[in-house]
Amino acid sequence: MKLTDAQLEQFHEEGYLFLPDWFDPDEVRVMKDEVPKVFAQRRQENVREKTGDVVRTAFAVHTYSDVFNRLVHHPKFLEPAEQMLGGQVYIHQFKINGKAAFDGDVWQWHQDYGTWAADDDMPNPYAMNLAVFLDEVTEFNGPLLFIPRSHQKGKLEAGHDLSTTSYPLWTIDHETIARLAGEGGIVAPKGRPGSALFFHCNLVHGSAPNMSPWGRVIVYVSLNRVDNAIRRFKRPEWIAHRDFAPLKPISEDCLKQLARDARVDPRAQTFESRGRISGRGAAE
Ligand code: SIN
Ligand code: MN
Repeated sequence: MKLTDAQLEQFHEEGYLFLPDWFDPDEVRVMKDEVPKVFAQRRQENVREKTGDVVRTAFAVHTYSDVFNRLVHHPKFLEPAEQMLGGQVYIHQFKINGKAAFDGDVWQWHQDYGTWAADDDMPNPYAMNLAVFLDEVTEFNGPLLFIPRSHQKGKLEAGHDLSTTSYPLWTIDHETIARLAGEGGIVAPKGRPGSALFFHCNLVHGSAPNMSPWGRVIVYVSLNRVDNAIRRFKRPEWIAHRDFAPLKPISEDCLKQLARDARVDPRAQTFESRGRISGRGAAE
């Protein structure tokens, strides 16, 4: 699942790489079926929107869901990430963002590395996000907005916003965003479920509230190079992980296998009937 030189160059130049239909419909279905079971749980890792009971972000799902544990070991993610970051990687953060129809709130303009440096003392911006769309992302349902090439500016000045949404974030002021967008414009990659977005931890991004009747579930895996592990542990482990062992890819078939099992025996798809996979990779 290696990326071409042209794809790598695009990532390094623009700060992101969009891969339409990177996961196929069977793989998407397996992941999508899992989401309502995750969001239905009352657990501290599920952060709800300020306005109601709707899940904004479900953190650390890979630690208790077999499906998402498979995803984080998927070669379609790990091999490109190692190429992009130039070394072995571990999971710094995992989240599923609901961006629910009508209720999904704004994500203010920010760089992820701003938060990871300020809160977790991550030494260098040798980290990135892998995002996979589980719904179709359109202009209507709050697509991610990127300022291309903004990652080349390094870590920008940011303020700690504790009030706008239910989740604290180090955000970038309007003047800086206007200047950066004047130079690089704004893009909103859109596409079918299964499309993937890889983006640099210093790429400036955000998203508008979702006022449409269509949900926009995106899974984010944030990977950091193992030689760049965080040095401060003030945030809970389920937000900033502390297992710095390198992830090892498993079979490319790992999600499709679950789809096949479900066709043969629908009970195989129940959340409770599957334990977390074992013996696969150093993160276990
Ligand atoms: C994020 O930046 O962490 C999330 C943005 C989004 O899901 O729209
Ligand atoms: Mn972000």
